[in-house]
Amino acid sequence: MPLQEHAFADVADVRERLRATGYLADEAIATTVFLADRLHKPLLVEGPAGVGKTELAKALASSVGAELIRLQCYEGLDEARALYEWNYKKQLLRIQAGAGSDADGGEGWQQAHDDIFSEEFLLSRPLLTAIRRTEPTVLLVDETDKADVEVEGLLLEVLSDFQVTIPELGTITAARRPFVVLTSNATRELSEALKRRCLYLNLDYPSAEREKEIVLARVPDLPEKLAESLVRIVRALRAMELKKAPSIAESIDWAHTVLALGFDTFDEAAVASTLGVVLKHASDHARAIDHLKLAAN
Ligand SMILES: Nc1ncnc2c1ncn2[C@@H]1O[C@H](COP(=O)(O)OP(=O)(O)O)[C@@H](O)[C@H]1O
Ligand SMILES: [Mg+2]
Repeated sequence: MPLQEHAFADVADVRERLRATGYLADEAIATTVFLADRLHKPLLVEGPAGVGKTELAKALASSVGAELIRLQCYEGLDEARALYEWNYKKQLLRIQAGAGSDADGGEGWQQAHDDIFSEEFLLSRPLLTAIRRTEPTVLLVDETDKADVEVEGLLLEVLSDFQVTIPELGTITAARRPFVVLTSNATRELSEALKRRCLYLNLDYPSAEREKEIVLARVPDLPEKLAESLVRIVRALRAMELKKAPSIAESIDWAHTVLALGFDTFDEAAVASTLGVVLKHASDHARAIDHLKLAAN
């Protein structure tokens, strides 16, 4: 018996439903998402910043009417923040209240113990929350590469069995497996064991055609001609050796900028005066200006 129904009928269905949320997927994205759904495998999405990794998980959730549960990874993230922890303060209050309730020194220790390790004193964190949900859920483990390696062990456990054992409460098994999306900026290699569990999608900057569509989908008032020149320049910038290449997020910001300033052509002067929207390093600025001058001559 399948643990859950399939969310998508076929690859085209994935594309259409993502598009309906404003997310434009190419064939590779749509196919991998379709397979992750069919095979019930976590989807690992790797790629540079700003290419639509996090957005894909959000779009996925809204395209199937699922709730998004997000575990944001960072250095120092631990089990207590990722899985669950006991509410010590509340437990302490409960013990104090119990001790005072009886004239001869309080209730039995066992009673207090049973009480404070019950549901009421449990603080559920994203992994446990996702496992316990009975409604459709997308679990986003965002920027996995930022967490310490030990967190991968924890993820591995949760993602292999979809169950969590809390010594005081017992084992909690997912009634309905969440659709899991892990993202990584590839600042370090994730473990082979974790990768083996997942389907892998490498997201890179989109083709000129798709980027233009994305920009127009997000900034529909931008004239198509301007979107075209904007994308062409963004791609030229990406081809240069910059400290930080502009991402799709920056293309969209630039489109808003062009619109807000009411440019009707995107010429060298317009580009130079708004370069701060897409390039965030002084050296990148200088390099780009040089390059664009040369290109204009
Ligand atoms: N395929 C896409 N369709 C529509 N918008 C996109 C797409 N890819 C990226 N974007 C836009 O780019 C922005 C940055 O994407 P995000 O998912 O935050 O990047 P990251 O890969 O760093 O997680 C998003 O807010 C979204 O508006
Ligand atoms: Mg992100």
